[in-house]
Amino acid sequence: MSMAATTHPSPLPQRRARSSRPALAGVGKTEPLPVLHALSELREAVDHCRRCTLWRAATQGVPGEGAPHAPLMLVGEQPGDSEDLAGHPFVGPAGAVLDRALADAGIERRAIYVTNAVKHFKYEQRGKRRLHMKPSIAEIAACNGWLREELRLVRPKLVLGLGASAARAVLGRAVTITSMRGKAVPLDETTHAWITIHPSYLLRMPEEARRIEIDRFTDELRAVRQWLRAHGA
Ligand code: URA
Repeated sequence: MSMAATTHPSPLPQRRARSSRPALAGVGKTEPLPVLHALSELREAVDHCRRCTLWRAATQGVPGEGAPHAPLMLVGEQPGDSEDLAGHPFVGPAGAVLDRALADAGIERRAIYVTNAVKHFKYEQRGKRRLHMKPSIAEIAACNGWLREELRLVRPKLVLGLGASAARAVLGRAVTITSMRGKAVPLDETTHAWITIHPSYLLRMPEEARRIEIDRFTDELRAVRQWLRAHGA
């Protein structure tokens, strides 16, 4: 993967009004997820998903995006405020930290696939601000079929889970980040998983500790890149 400038679609200027349209067949609470034929179907499918209640307050469902057969898939927790408005993953403050670390590690964002464990923004309204809330185990489970579809269609060699919610979604169980960090573990016959911290954890740290931890995170991304090279990607 080569070094190159990272580009994003620019965020939508305004929140889109939430429509009251009914769920598409197959994405209601109790029905099985539809089998997608292509990643291009994902946006509409997650936007119509009613398997949990997060869609009600969110602007839109935010699907993953990136290279269709990327060797590396990044999984975050859920869209944040900026991502909910823009309809694209990791375009807000955590995305800026992630982009910088990826670029410093020599990983081109266009060459990877970036998604989230949960596709709708969960938040608490405080005045004008929408404050992030952690998704529940049930919400992660309700959304997991979409991640499985993305894995089936992209078939990455390595899935990098960012933080505890992503780790749960990717591995199907709770793990501590410290016990899993820094190594690839087999997920199935074709894919390995690698668990690390979430970039928003870095944003919450005091300045000095943050610099050290950003370097550590960037080194870990370099190790991911080396792992991919060693595995023919
Ligand atoms: N945090 C996430 O986990 N995902 C995003 O897309 C943005 C912030």
